[in-house]
Amino acid sequence: MYASTMNVLVIGSGGREHALCWALSKSGGMGDLFCAPGNAGMEEIARCVQVDWKNADAIIGFCRDHDIGLVVIGPEAPLAEGLSDALRSAGLRAVGPSKEAARLESSKAFMREICEETKVPSPRNASFKESKQAKSYVEANFQEGEKIVVKADGLAAGKGVVIAENHGEAYEAIDEMFDGKFGEASACVLIEECLEGEEASLFYLCDGEVALAFGNGRDYKRIGEGNVGANTGGMGAYSPVGELTEEVCAQVEEKIVNPVLRSMAARGTPFTGFLYAGVMLTPDGVKLLEFNVRMGDPETQVVLPRLRSNFLELLLTSCSGAGALRDVSLEWDPRNCITVVMASQGYPGEYEKGARIEGIESASSMKDVHVFHAGTARDGDGEIIATGGRVLAVSGLGESLAPARSRAYEALGHIKWSGGIYRRDIGT
Ligand code: AMP
Ligand code: GLY
Repeated sequence: MYASTMNVLVIGSGGREHALCWALSKSGGMGDLFCAPGNAGMEEIARCVQVDWKNADAIIGFCRDHDIGLVVIGPEAPLAEGLSDALRSAGLRAVGPSKEAARLESSKAFMREICEETKVPSPRNASFKESKQAKSYVEANFQEGEKIVVKADGLAAGKGVVIAENHGEAYEAIDEMFDGKFGEASACVLIEECLEGEEASLFYLCDGEVALAFGNGRDYKRIGEGNVGANTGGMGAYSPVGELTEEVCAQVEEKIVNPVLRSMAARGTPFTGFLYAGVMLTPDGVKLLEFNVRMGDPETQVVLPRLRSNFLELLLTSCSGAGALRDVSLEWDPRNCITVVMASQGYPGEYEKGARIEGIESASSMKDVHVFHAGTARDGDGEIIATGGRVLAVSGLGESLAPARSRAYEALGHIKWSGGIYRRDIGT
């Protein structure tokens, strides 16, 4: 499709971005791969460069100097700040929505408004700019004993959702948020009905008009085994999700993703890039919990190991105009993939940095195992050290969930890091 090779820049430094880099690095047509800022794992397959995404001019300058044909933006923050708009204005190709389209994630009130307009199956919800009205809404709409979801409107690094067990807890969460717990992000607060059921994440690659299904997964958000304890960025995941039958996936496309894509296009803010639909499978059918405007982390670390199609070519197609993805079909490895996240002891609270990690090579040399790095760096002796909360994601493939799981945990057994913790119940 493209005669010569293409240089690519990936923005981000987590396990998701390592997986994006890995899938790109084995795509036909790849030229040089760069990552800003990257981590110790990405250094093995890409050139990590210290260019700050907050400085769009610096990124644009870097792209011009290095003949970058495509920029892939991993995390939500640069998308919410409009990095893709700046790149496109400079004539560069970027994977990721515009600032305006990224509001599907950066403003939950905006997201619910679009869903209301397009009749997307959703929990009962309302948004408020001040505490008194929010509390009256709770009082009038929730029985004592019924759970109440209180959410900050804006980006809050996965910490902006409180599931209150009663009115008192809901009022407390409302006050905290309006008192500025999340700064500007909680200047608007949403109250939602608490949905019950199993959660799942579905991914789509979008060109402004077409949403191409791009795998699915289930992640484990809590720190503790049995889904207890604090919320984290995600302690593990698996793909595919058994409950996401063809019929359920078709419902998500027809009732959730396609109407929203049409509405965004009609508003003159078409959605391009990865769209992540977080859904609840309820007894009344599938309902939308959230949209994210990027791939999931750690779900990417279980979706990309299963992709057989040329990733670079797909990403290029997604940026070549509305409708370009219409006739594209993807090839997947039918096997299951599980990833287990190793985090620093203490995460998601305070944790120590700088401890050495050994045995990564031995783990990643195992067949059907991939070790993706998040918070890692090399120390003065060139040894890998832990520098973040989530540090590694160890992915294993298998004919079904059980062997995928055994493989991932066997690989984990090769990794020697005394300050590392992980859940033993991923995929059970
Ligand atoms: P969000 O940031 O909106 O994705 O919410 C994060 C997590 O909070 C979701 O993955 C769910 O586990 C939970 N959650 C959010 N909204 C609801 C809801 N209306 N009912 C039940 N759980 C919810
Ligand atoms: N795994 C959840 C997220 O990426 O937001």
